[in-house]
Amino acid sequence: MKEGTKIVLGIESTAHTFGVGIASSDGRILANENRVYRPSKGGIHPREAAQHHTRVAPEALRAGLLKAGISLDELDGIAFSVGPGLGPCLRTGATIARTLALSLGKPLIAVNHGVAHIEIGRLVTGCKDPVVLYVAGGNTLIAAFNAGRYRIFGETLDIAAGNCLDTFGIKAGIGPMPMPELMAERAKSFIQLPYTVKGMDVSFSGLLTAAFLKLKQGAALEDVCYGLTETVYSMLTEVTERAVAYTTKNEILVVGGLARSKRLKSMLDTMAMERGAKVYTIPDEYAGDNGAMIAWNGVLQLMSGMVVDVEDSRIKPRMRIDEIEVRWFR
Ligand code: FE2
Repeated sequence: MKEGTKIVLGIESTAHTFGVGIASSDGRILANENRVYRPSKGGIHPREAAQHHTRVAPEALRAGLLKAGISLDELDGIAFSVGPGLGPCLRTGATIARTLALSLGKPLIAVNHGVAHIEIGRLVTGCKDPVVLYVAGGNTLIAAFNAGRYRIFGETLDIAAGNCLDTFGIKAGIGPMPMPELMAERAKSFIQLPYTVKGMDVSFSGLLTAAFLKLKQGAALEDVCYGLTETVYSMLTEVTERAVAYTTKNEILVVGGLARSKRLKSMLDTMAMERGAKVYTIPDEYAGDNGAMIAWNGVLQLMSGMVVDVEDSRIKPRMRIDEIEVRWFR
């Protein structure tokens, strides 16, 4: 490794994933070890998820260091997800990060989870200044860099797109994504469902209720899945297109768990082609929550002098991406 290269260990623990990543300032991901809590039934139980994170943390940490082939004293900083996320889960990751930083005498770096999704996307896809569609189980927003920050152009007014599809799949008995999308491929007819775009914002809760109602009324599950996924993706494509038109940027970056959707990608591709823009989709291993993105964002912040004292490192469960000054943007 070149002289002066900085190495940061990042801890992700906003929701169901406990992740340990290690990244270096020359843009390499040295480790990305993620352990996912899977509830026996239903959605995430915050306290159980936090207990899971505590349980798997020592092993994930050891695995990360082993993979990267480095020891704890070779680290230049400890980063963690400070928000947004579920309180008990965030607290677990933050406590581990503070303990490591204090005991090793290394700087502590508080990373915004959403910004980290964007930055790992820019790193691994090579796009420079995109309109970002961040779609996941807990977040849905359209953002772009402007005047020092990632500004939010549009977002969900209620539940996240991923949450809508996961909840439908789980309650319909087929399981979360990608099951609803796979099921949709077998549809025979399209079922019209409420399409709610308000300006640059989207809303999914009425759509979810309507989809359940159709199912109750006897519509075929495949057809409801088809109507539901097409409607969700069309809404996302519409607001993304509007942000592209407004900003005149010619790159679109899709990050978050729903970036794995092939159908969403194809819809965005069609729209982008008509506008002379290009869609960059994050590779699967970095799409969902992961430790590597926190480590990489930690490197960027460390290089910009954005570290925090332990006393100021309180978690922010409702943090927004525009709260962070993106000093490293180039
Ligand atoms: Fe996430």
